[in-house]
Amino acid sequence: MDKLTKLRNDLEMCDEVIMDVLRMRCQIVQELINYKQENGISTVQPEEEQRKKKIFTQKLADYEYQQSIMSIYDYIIYQSKRIQSHELFGQNIFLVGFMGVGKSTISSYLKDVFAMDVIEMDEIIAKRNGMSISEIFELHGEPYFRNEETALLKECQNKKNQIISCGGGVAMRQVNVDEMRKSGTIVLLTASPETILERVQSSHDRPLLENNKTIEHITSLMQAREQAYQNAADIIVNTDGKSVFEICEEIINKVQPLKPETTTA
Ligand code: S3P
Repeated sequence: MDKLTKLRNDLEMCDEVIMDVLRMRCQIVQELINYKQENGISTVQPEEEQRKKKIFTQKLADYEYQQSIMSIYDYIIYQSKRIQSHELFGQNIFLVGFMGVGKSTISSYLKDVFAMDVIEMDEIIAKRNGMSISEIFELHGEPYFRNEETALLKECQNKKNQIISCGGGVAMRQVNVDEMRKSGTIVLLTASPETILERVQSSHDRPLLENNKTIEHITSLMQAREQAYQNAADIIVNTDGKSVFEICEEIINKVQPLKPETTTA
């Protein structure tokens, strides 16, 4: 056997080992997340990820391809997170609820810990129109904005396992609720008017609250929406006084029983 053939054979053997080990790894990840769920153990444990990364970085400290290997490792971790979120949710998660309940904050946390794709509805609509939400309301009017929301929700049907952070008015239209039901679970986040006021106080891109950030206005708008929110919700999570971590754990635990039997990645 000439040298080139031997090297190619060695490389192929390495790849086979890598493939086998990766397959084993995927299975362990699957079993681990299911075990945690069945035994009431917290699904999100970022310190474990940090611990392992530190060990491997140290282990490869003097190796010239340390960075290459660590970036492959990062990608393995990224894919593991996606496997976990698929095991946990297996469908789209629509976060609905009043302005300031924390839809965007929760979405970005879930994106970090489970490498999920996030659709931030307001952000996409603003980008598509080349202007802020306030400018859309001012120039085109609210009905135009609401139609943009419905159109975007319809587009969300193409993919699975995304977090869709909805604008506060999305659950008001029955057509939107029907659309969301087709591909996922609707999670209603709630908070008291006092918490809402505190959270929206310093932002200026909510035309329905701008110039009227008061407990009275927030309370009356919330009351007008309450019934539609409740009717839309598959699960409800109150966010008052809870950390982002606690809210996410509660969402995961409540969504679990609603997970479809079989799903494809
Ligand atoms: C709205 C909520 C906003 C945004 C728009 C209208 C509403 O989104 O879509 O200002 O009708 O409640 P957030 O809930 O993300 O603030």
